[in-house]
Amino acid sequence: MTTDPRTLLLHVLREELGLRGTKYGCGEGECGACTVLIDGRPLNACLIPAGRADGARVETIEGIAGTETGQTVIKALCEQGGVQCGFCTPGFVASITAGGDLSGNLCRCTGYIKIRAAVRQVLDQIEPRPPSPPGPRRAILGPAYARPATVADALRLLATDAPWRILAGGTDLLVQHEHRLERLSLLDITAIADFPALTETSQSVVIPALATYTDLRTSPTVLRWAGPLATAAALVGGRQIQNAGTVGGNIVNASPAGDAIPALQVLGARIHLRSPHEARTVPISRFFTGPGRTRLAKGELVTHIEIPKTPPTDLIWFFDRVGTRRAQAITKASVAFRARRHESGLADVSIALGAVGPTVLEAPKTAAFLERGPLTEERLRHAADLLGREAQPIDDIRSTARYRRRAVAGLLLRNLLPLAGRPPCS
Ligand SMILES: Cc1cc2nc3c(=O)[nH]c(=O)nc-3n(C[C@H](O)[C@H](O)[C@H](O)COP(=O)(O)OP(=O)(O)OC[C@H]3O[C@@H](n4cnc5c(N)ncnc54)[C@H](O)[C@@H]3O)c2cc1C
Ligand code: FES
Ligand code: FES
Repeated sequence: MTTDPRTLLLHVLREELGLRGTKYGCGEGECGACTVLIDGRPLNACLIPAGRADGARVETIEGIAGTETGQTVIKALCEQGGVQCGFCTPGFVASITAGGDLSGNLCRCTGYIKIRAAVRQVLDQIEPRPPSPPGPRRAILGPAYARPATVADALRLLATDAPWRILAGGTDLLVQHEHRLERLSLLDITAIADFPALTETSQSVVIPALATYTDLRTSPTVLRWAGPLATAAALVGGRQIQNAGTVGGNIVNASPAGDAIPALQVLGARIHLRSPHEARTVPISRFFTGPGRTRLAKGELVTHIEIPKTPPTDLIWFFDRVGTRRAQAITKASVAFRARRHESGLADVSIALGAVGPTVLEAPKTAAFLERGPLTEERLRHAADLLGREAQPIDDIRSTARYRRRAVAGLLLRNLLPLAGRPPCS
């Protein structure tokens, strides 16, 4: 490859290959105008370094439009009036061809009603294509971009003096460094083949650091044993972000608004770390030291996360959040909840709050209160009030502290009031 492997795939397609059907909209993974299919999955070309695409099957609108399915999709969009300026259309065509989930595609001029009508028309006519398994990826070991094939090779590189930045899905890192990629040395870990697989033992569920949100929300194991995590994964971003973003990246990015973190916290997850010298585990409740700060040491990798299995009998749990809109919105406040139900109330209550403190917070006072008495509407309203007071939110550009306190209280009520025989409040 002669192209600098750090160059974004979007620029390679448009500037080097002249494939200008793939559009540059936001450059930050939000609009979907740059959607291409990589091994059949919709992904944002603005968040993929070219090196990542080496060995993958990349389909752009130019290729998709030449297929029967692509033609059916384009025809339906035209017939239903789902195209005005057309800037967003190549991205929509790619997403519809891959199954019709449009959560990661924005359109500024056509009504979504018409675009959705086109999707309905098309899905009656075509079989959505399942993604193909990614083929083996060859290792790339350049000075500014490396894509090692094993954990040992990655750790060897991390042990050198080079200022490597670990790159997983890139949905945080590449957005944060959008215009300065040429200054980064990227250690792309997505071709590492010997991370543990997503699996379960008799005691626990093992989740590889590279598990994407799509992996998590569709895994029967995660759905059965780690419900709050599956729900959180289904609420993250849009489909393109869910196909790229990883649980390891969410943890190490350490945003108080990271949606996987509160879910993992109520599940009692432990983070497994590897350096060239040792393997160690840290409970997730002790991993964060501040916003964007963790106990990950220089040269260490998160390899996997372990969640102890709790028998699902009598277990109640939820993960819920509020944002400006349902998809593609950073969380303003979130609540993860897990408890065991018994005759007169709740036991083993665990609550974690997102985006209302410098790190994800636990809410021990509310949990203890809920364990002390029956599940009446009056007591639940008191618990919600207490939860709002346990939050430590600040005013920022996304929301006010007052709103966030009320939001966590509302999320608790919305999900627990039905247990007291009351309809949920909206
Ligand atoms: C449009 C958009 C919408 C989004 N919506 C949401 C949302 O709803 N909820 C949410 O929580 N997040 C959201 N995000 C943020 C992001 O998608 C997640 O935080 C994601 O999980 C990050 O994972 P990644 O694999 O992309 O991480 P990367 O960007 O690759 O890496 C993030 C950080 O983690 C480090 N890192 C990654 N993997 C490892 C590892 N195994 N070991 C050590 N260090 C590692 C990197 O060096 C970097 O510092 C959104 C992002 C975008 C662009
Ligand atoms: S250009 Fe907007 S998501 Fe890529
Ligand atoms: S048709 Fe103009 S942005 Fe969608």
